[in-house]
Amino acid sequence: MNISLEHAKQLDQEDPLSHYKSQFNLPEGVIYLDGNSLGTQPKASQGAVEKTLIQWRQELIKGWNQGWFDAPERLGNLMAPLIGAKEEEVLITDNITLNIYKLIGYITETQQPKRPVILSEGGNFPTDGYIAQGFCHFSEFEHRFFPEGSNLEDYLDDQVAVVIMSHVHYRTGVLRDMKVITEKVHQHGAEIIWDLAHSAGALAVDLAENSVNFAVGCTYKYLNGGPGSPGFLYVNKAHQDKGWQPLTGWHGHAAPFAFDLDYSPAVGITQFRTGTHSALIYSSLEASLQLWKEVDMQQLRQKSLQMTELFRSCVADVLLHHDIQDITPEPSKRGSQVSLINTEKGFAIVQALIARGVIGDYREPGLLRFGFTPLYLSYEDVWLAAQHFCDVVESGEYKKPEFQVRSSVT
Ligand SMILES: Cc1ncc(COP(=O)(O)O)c(C=O)c1O
Repeated sequence: MNISLEHAKQLDQEDPLSHYKSQFNLPEGVIYLDGNSLGTQPKASQGAVEKTLIQWRQELIKGWNQGWFDAPERLGNLMAPLIGAKEEEVLITDNITLNIYKLIGYITETQQPKRPVILSEGGNFPTDGYIAQGFCHFSEFEHRFFPEGSNLEDYLDDQVAVVIMSHVHYRTGVLRDMKVITEKVHQHGAEIIWDLAHSAGALAVDLAENSVNFAVGCTYKYLNGGPGSPGFLYVNKAHQDKGWQPLTGWHGHAAPFAFDLDYSPAVGITQFRTGTHSALIYSSLEASLQLWKEVDMQQLRQKSLQMTELFRSCVADVLLHHDIQDITPEPSKRGSQVSLINTEKGFAIVQALIARGVIGDYREPGLLRFGFTPLYLSYEDVWLAAQHFCDVVESGEYKKPEFQVRSSVT
């Protein structure tokens, strides 16, 4: 490798975010490059969950009036500054899939004049398209894809009601120009739902600055909420209280404990709730969001770009000699991941790295995905991970039979 370990250590010395690493529980001997799939555990999460367990034991149902019930709004307000939203514009609830469904229904119900088409990006994370198709299956709407990487404007006609798109693409890591795309969609009289799964907590997102009205995202990746921690949903204040969303559960009712038989939506962001949520996982997420309150997102972005560049530079020669393609976008168009492609050996290389404690992931077809999370990775970790990568590829270690076996989660 053309970059020395001393250089990486020097970068750590100068890193203003280095103190965050000690606030996470990281298993010994593991370099975790999969925080873009499931984030690691903040130390504070364990205590927070235990506290909720004790509260449950001691307070029983009274716990709902002691912070559990209003957690979706309270945590939404904690999260808001991370994505350029204001108070009462973000709700922590359900998951991305269900939140997209709610927003498609809400937008199409309130849009005038009515338009029949839901347009989503081909090549996006499939659930975004699946749920749009489900929505159309049970209504008169038509779902269409526009090809990934194509000029969206070619597909925006006066039939399109809603566009669904990811801010950072889950495979390639390409960061989209949110401002330009949102503006184009609005100019065509349509709305856009941004999926922030790979940008919330990975880089500074500014929904207000980019005139975004609707967005969704998750908290189990870069935001470290924990496995299955809830999604979030953003509706710009000016677009709230315009109609119904389609998943009309009792927690989104104007008076859930009046037990009226007829549905009437709650005021504001609360109408996007559905039913009972898990107090336990919300407490884990709240502990993590408290930690995020202090993070300087400009410093985070700078470190993310420096780490991805360090990794790429360290492995560049090996990629060249072993026919592995680096499709990571240029820095200004990059999320917080490095994306490499080799359809024949990609899967096995990732498995061999995992066996060495370097955890990345693999996505069909051929994609080796390495996520870089500035809060708990050091430059030394990045250098060591690159060293392991080079060893695994150059030695042919990945060819061992045990690295060819596929389990259900890759
Ligand atoms: C872009 C994107 N959208 C959605 C999801 C998953 O959605 P949900 O939170 O509903 O499981 C993922 C999961 O990795 C994703 O990468």
